[in-house]
Amino acid sequence: MATTLTRIGLAGLAVMGQNLALNIAEKGFPISVYNRSSSKVDETVERAKKEGDLPLYGFHDPESFVLSIQKPRVIIMLVKAGAPVDDTIKTLSVYLEKGDCIIDGGNEWYENTERREKAMTELGFLYLGMGVSGGEEGARNGPSMMPGGSFEAYKNIEDILVKVAAQVDSGPCVTYIGKGGSGNFVKMVHNGIEYGDMQLIAEAYDVLKSVGKLSNEELHQVFSEWNKGELLSFLVEITADIFKIKDDKADGHLVDKVLDKTGMKGTGKWTVQQAAELSIAAPTIAASLDSRFLSGLKEERVLAAKVFQSSGIGEILTDQAVVDKQKLIDDVRQALYASKICSYAQGMNLIRAKSEEKDWGLKLGELARIWKGGCIIRAIFLDRIKQAYDRNADLANLLVDPEFAGEVVDRQAAWRRVVCLAINAGISTPGMSTSLAYFDTYRRERLPANLVQAQRDYFGAHTYERTDIPGSFHTEWFKLAKQSKI
Ligand code: 6PG
Repeated sequence: MATTLTRIGLAGLAVMGQNLALNIAEKGFPISVYNRSSSKVDETVERAKKEGDLPLYGFHDPESFVLSIQKPRVIIMLVKAGAPVDDTIKTLSVYLEKGDCIIDGGNEWYENTERREKAMTELGFLYLGMGVSGGEEGARNGPSMMPGGSFEAYKNIEDILVKVAAQVDSGPCVTYIGKGGSGNFVKMVHNGIEYGDMQLIAEAYDVLKSVGKLSNEELHQVFSEWNKGELLSFLVEITADIFKIKDDKADGHLVDKVLDKTGMKGTGKWTVQQAAELSIAAPTIAASLDSRFLSGLKEERVLAAKVFQSSGIGEILTDQAVVDKQKLIDDVRQALYASKICSYAQGMNLIRAKSEEKDWGLKLGELARIWKGGCIIRAIFLDRIKQAYDRNADLANLLVDPEFAGEVVDRQAAWRRVVCLAINAGISTPGMSTSLAYFDTYRRERLPANLVQAQRDYFGAHTYERTDIPGSFHTEWFKLAKQSKI
């Protein structure tokens, strides 16, 4: 029990909550913790003792928990998004006083945060929706945090957040994101980008394994090597690690025993829904989502494989007996990097579109900066993205930043080779292929969209614009076609 009041409270002691509470205590901020089931409280207090007698105090009832925190009180909630957040607010707010603040640190839908902020403001409370990324390890040792909502609330805990966040050369991985649900929105897009990164890495793995016939040991080597260069990132690093792990229940490597079905909690789906809502093309992220849907159809895929095998189509269509492994590895690295640029460009453009719609004034370069450490998509490459937006805050697309444009051009031949090779081998690389298509669509001055627009005008009199004369036009295509001789 704390003899004096603590600086901050945290409610919800599942994995993320427990680790974030310990991190806050370790940075020297006395913290009160509470959980509905008291065993988690005891577990956290026990850990705090073991991990260095940290100033963390457990409470088994909400009233004494809230009253143990100094005013204006700040309480971080780390509970499941949706109804549990509303329930926790209800439980705690009974004991709160005007000026106190609640922070939701979960992966919440941004509109829920806006609704709650409004309701809390009417009661005289402050509210923040704060994306927290980095998983268990990040929460314990330094996550990337994306707080949005009341600026006053942010200022009340800024000193804590900057110490608790991951630290990189350009500072702590936290910043005030903006008003309303912007913190949750940015975290949502972070997760969409995370889906894209993971899919692209999985495709690189598939091509190297299925066409290049690389063993797990070789894959470990390749990903370890990649992690020393332009692809240096948390996800590439853990991928290299995964290939090292032997199965403890049978022979071989564990990765080969993991069922090929990807789960999800929904933030990637929200990202794609928002992209559609805002008319922002996000095909790489959408491909990663579709791949998760298709992976879930395991039983159907097993049957389909049988159907096509009996029609003569095996797993791999061409037998690449003579593949130049080194060349393939180098090509795949380049294809992965170029695709990644497209994916981040899509995510950033989605954030910008939402920021414009909601008047949030989000700074894309600053977001790239706080993703440099702590979070799941942390990567050396984010520094380059930050620099691109520093050079030009109004950059229409990362692809046209002179540095990224140069890099994509340098890699496009390898990128095309990998996609063609995969297509011919019957290996689906939806993320890499659609990224390439995104690039090829975006870079062309003239697209076949003229024909689609003509079709629309033909059957629906939707009108069209001309390339040479301003205005809106309609043509009686059907009538003219009937009269026309050719
Ligand atoms: C993070 C992660 C984290 C979590 C996602 C995974 O930034 O720390 O994104 O939020 O791992 O929920 O999402 P899926 O379960 O949808 O893959």
